[in-house]
Amino acid sequence: MKVFVTGKLSDRAFDALQNFAQVDAYESDDPMPREEFEARLDGKDALVCILGDKVDRELFQKRPQLKLVANVAVGYDNINVADANDAGVLITNTPGVLDNATADLAFGLLLSAARRIVEADGFVRRGEWKGWKRELMLGAELHGKTLGIVGMGRIGKAVAKRARAFGLNIIYARKGEDKKADDALKKAFEAERVSLSDLCKRSDFISVHCPLRQETRHLIGKAEFALMQPHCVLVNTSRGAVIDEEAMIEALESKRIASCGLDVFEREPLVPERLIALPNVVLAPHIGSATKETRAGMDELAIKGLVEAFSGKLPSNAVNPAVWDKFQGSR
Ligand code: GLV
Repeated sequence: MKVFVTGKLSDRAFDALQNFAQVDAYESDDPMPREEFEARLDGKDALVCILGDKVDRELFQKRPQLKLVANVAVGYDNINVADANDAGVLITNTPGVLDNATADLAFGLLLSAARRIVEADGFVRRGEWKGWKRELMLGAELHGKTLGIVGMGRIGKAVAKRARAFGLNIIYARKGEDKKADDALKKAFEAERVSLSDLCKRSDFISVHCPLRQETRHLIGKAEFALMQPHCVLVNTSRGAVIDEEAMIEALESKRIASCGLDVFEREPLVPERLIALPNVVLAPHIGSATKETRAGMDELAIKGLVEAFSGKLPSNAVNPAVWDKFQGSR
């Protein structure tokens, strides 16, 4: 059984994989050139990949031997799951292990944007600080304000937990009816479920935590920015394309909203010059899950799922369990 790994894995996960399969691993932490990716994937039974690796029909059609793709990320918008279903390829992701790390970063970005920490850091470093001033770098206080959470899954809940400690009131918008879950959220966080429009109107701060799907692409666009309050701070640690980046830049430039904290962008690693030119944004290079502990947890979960699947057990982190019978037949 042959596995191709497109990025570095933690030692424990790598050892576990090597004990189980013949492993070909890309040696660098830099993104892999596509031609090399395609060439080295030939003849492999499984692929362990990262969110920059595009996986679709063409890839499957050329490689009938490929049976499983383990995405070392919770988001799997880089993989065309419908194509994987047609090809009978099992897809896994890494849910649960990165909730705290991502929620921490969302809060870091929220605090940085609301309290202008990055701007303040530059001010001090440039030697512009001439003494204490009453009006210097005034920002927005979190306590007593309203945080709107878009997408109330595992990461949204981890954000809600932190928000309560900061004295924030929580409203949230998400898809699907689930009264039981709404009641539980009310009980745990006094969180109120509202429509996306109401969330945009009422929030002092907004944090986005829904996955990127066809129906969430540009979920927040021109119409939503038009509803937001001018002091609103928007944080995105999910996927760039959930927000219409052009509309967001216009909203920031025209001061329709106050600021943004962004870990994700529509065309990563491209960050528009107009965004970089704005002082009222805090930018990070997609590091939501980038803690040592979480990265190790993601690697271990990815490899555990792979080993389970090839040992005849449907992994709990399978994204498309419907292909399980087909997968087993091809194994
Ligand atoms: C990171 O963005 C992930 O989806 O795990």
